Order: sequence, then structure tokens, then C-alpha cells
Amino acid sequence: MLGRIAFFVSVVYVVLNTMLLRWAAEQLPFTFFDDEEHFNATLGNLLKPRYVGSPGHSEVRDFIEKELQSLDFTVQRFDFKEGANFSNLAGYWNKEAEHILMLTCHYDSRKPKEWDKDILLSATEGAVSCAILLNLAKTLGLFLAEKLSKKGGMGLALIFFDGHYPVTSDNEDEDELIGSSRFIEDDIIPLKKIALALTFSYIGAPNQTYYNYFEVSEDLHDLVTDIELDLRKSGQLTDCHVLFHKIKEFDNDLLDDHVLFHELGVPVMHVAPHEFPKVLYTAADNQENLHYPTIRNMIKIMRIFVYDFLEHWDSYISGNNNFVPYSDSDDN
Ligand SMILES: *[C@@H]1O[C@H](CO)[C@@H](O)[C@H](O)[C@H]1NC(C)=O
Ligand SMILES: *[C@@H]1O[C@H](CO)[C@@H](O)[C@H](O)[C@H]1NC(C)=O
Ligand SMILES: *[C@@H]1O[C@H](CO)[C@@H](O)[C@H](O)[C@H]1NC(C)=O
Repeated sequence: MLGRIAFFVSVVYVVLNTMLLRWAAEQLPFTFFDDEEHFNATLGNLLKPRYVGSPGHSEVRDFIEKELQSLDFTVQRFDFKEGANFSNLAGYWNKEAEHILMLTCHYDSRKPKEWDKDILLSATEGAVSCAILLNLAKTLGLFLAEKLSKKGGMGLALIFFDGHYPVTSDNEDEDELIGSSRFIEDDIIPLKKIALALTFSYIGAPNQTYYNYFEVSEDLHDLVTDIELDLRKSGQLTDCHVLFHKIKEFDNDLLDDHVLFHELGVPVMHVAPHEFPKVLYTAADNQENLHYPTIRNMIKIMRIFVYDFLEHWDSYISGNNNFVPYSDSDDN
């Protein structure tokens, strides 16, 4: 009799344990691993003069395309002529999903003067932001393959815009956003599908702080600052000043591709410092002057944010907070 009871108890114990373990495994958030070697190698491939028409421009374009393919993204390249040959690049997971989280950067560099055309590596100008996008793609890889690809509703798009700068260098201070204008004109991703256009710009200089530039994504910006705080508390960040602050600067946003989407009513968020890097458009905008703690922490923070958005997008876009999804005013 006692033997039977003991047997019964141990069976119950094993069954309960198995159930508990399963439950724990399902609840456990994904564990992500850094891959700074990948970041460094990627940045190495981007850090070259890459103004429109230069050999570096097509090398970088081809590199990004190959890299996205090797990370199992569905890749599209859109070539177009507008006084020069431009190419936008797009990499997708769940391309056909009803909603798309779009991460963007621009990969071309500003056309230099004749004398400095071989020395401007334009690191914070865009290379670091694009390397961060590719590193997010790499280190989120397992999650994208195992989880995101099994859900239909939300997709991820990484967009590498060309043509941030005009073809000539006469108008030094003019950003033309040729690539993103064309992307919108050609309806590459219908605006209604874009749950959020998140643009990365001018990242990598020392002392940068990141503010909230758009009311529409205020909750998401606050979430990013909370993620940074949590990671810092649990000792997961490199020792460094605080990057994200819940400070609103709605009229002090640096111009980049997201602005065009914002003007058309797409929810946008801009991960950008509140002032330009001091080294911008100089030969000192190189790897030596990058601030690695900022870059390391930025990747860790934004990886959790992207993961969280892809996992919980339905609560973000169902109106449980301020976040207002895209609505075409013509529909009303
Ligand atoms: C990446 O490059 C930075 C700057 O050169 C260096 O400090 C860091 O150790 C490198 N990381 C790895 C993993 O090689
Ligand atoms: C654009 O590319 C074509 C080849 O595809 C080349 O013949 C042409 O010269 C290029 N145009 C410019 C402005 O570089
Ligand atoms: C960054 O801030 C510290 C402290 O405020 C200052 O000493 C340092 O010169 C700043 N560095 C740059 C590159 O601005």
C-alpha cells in the first residue's frame, strides 16, 4: 500500500514538474546574445567614401544586399535614376503581413569636395546606424526565425535608403531625401501597413543624449527609456551616461527620412541625438572617434524594443495607449 502511494506521489511529482518546466520555458523571454565581432566587421565594410557615383557607393550597396540575404531576409533592390544611379534596399521578414515595423537608415554619404573625397568615412553620418540595423538583424535572427515567422500579423522591414544627399555638392546643407521620396512614390510598402517607421541617425559620438521628438510615439519613446533603465539596473549595460531621456523636443528634430512618412500621417520615431555630432562632415568622423559604450548600449536597448514591439504589437496598435496608428484622412 505504502509502495503504491509512493509510486503515485512520484508520478504526480514528475508530471507536475514537466508541466511547470514547460510553462516556464514558454514564459521565458527570448535570450539574446551580443555579436560585436559582427558589428565591427559590418562597420568595416560600410566605412568608406560612399557618395553617389563613387565606387564605395556600389560596394556598400552590394554588401548590404548580400548581408541581408545571408541573414535570410527576403531582399528587394530598387534601382532608379534621378540625375545619378540610386538604389534603395529592403529586407523583410513576413513581407505579406498586414502590419510592418519598418527600421530605416540611409547608407549614402554626402558628396565631398574634390580635395577630401577620399578621406570622409562618414561614420556617425550613417555608417554606424546602418551597422546597428544589420547587427539587430543578426542578433534577433533566432527570434525572427523561430517566433516571428510563425505569426502572420506583423512583419519586419529593414530599409536602407539611398540619396539622402543631392548629386552635386553645391548645396552643401541641403538634404534631399531622394531615396525615401521615391520609396513612398512607388508605394513599396503601402503607408497603411507601416505600424511604425523608426529611423536611426547620427549615432556613435561621445556624450550623445536621445530625446522624444514626436508626440505620436511618446509612449514608445518612454518604453525605450524604461528598457534602458531596466537593463542598467540588472547590470547588462556597459558603463556609460544615460542615453534616452523622457524629454520632449517636438520642434527640434534633426532632418532624416522619417520626416516624409510623418508628413503623410505614418507613426514615426526617431532614434537620434538632439544635436549633430561635432565630427559630422569632417575627416574626424571615423572609427577612432566613435564612442563604443554608446553603440553597445544602443544595440542592447533597441534589440529589446524591437523584440517587444514584434511580440506585443497588437496592444501597441489597438489603442491601449497614445500611440495612434496610421489612418488615411481620405478614408474618413
Ligand atoms: C570592436 O571594435 C572596437 C573599436 O576598435 C574595439 O574596442 C572592440 O574590442 C571590438 N570588439 C570586438 C568584439 O572585437
Ligand atoms: C548609370 O548606370 C549605367 C549602367 O547601368 C551607366 O551606363 C550610366 O553611366 C550610369 N549613370 C550615371 C549618371 O552614373
Ligand atoms: C563629454 O562630456 C564630458 C563631461 O561633461 C566632457 O568632459 C567631455 O569633454 C565631453 N566630450 C565631448 C567629446 O564632447
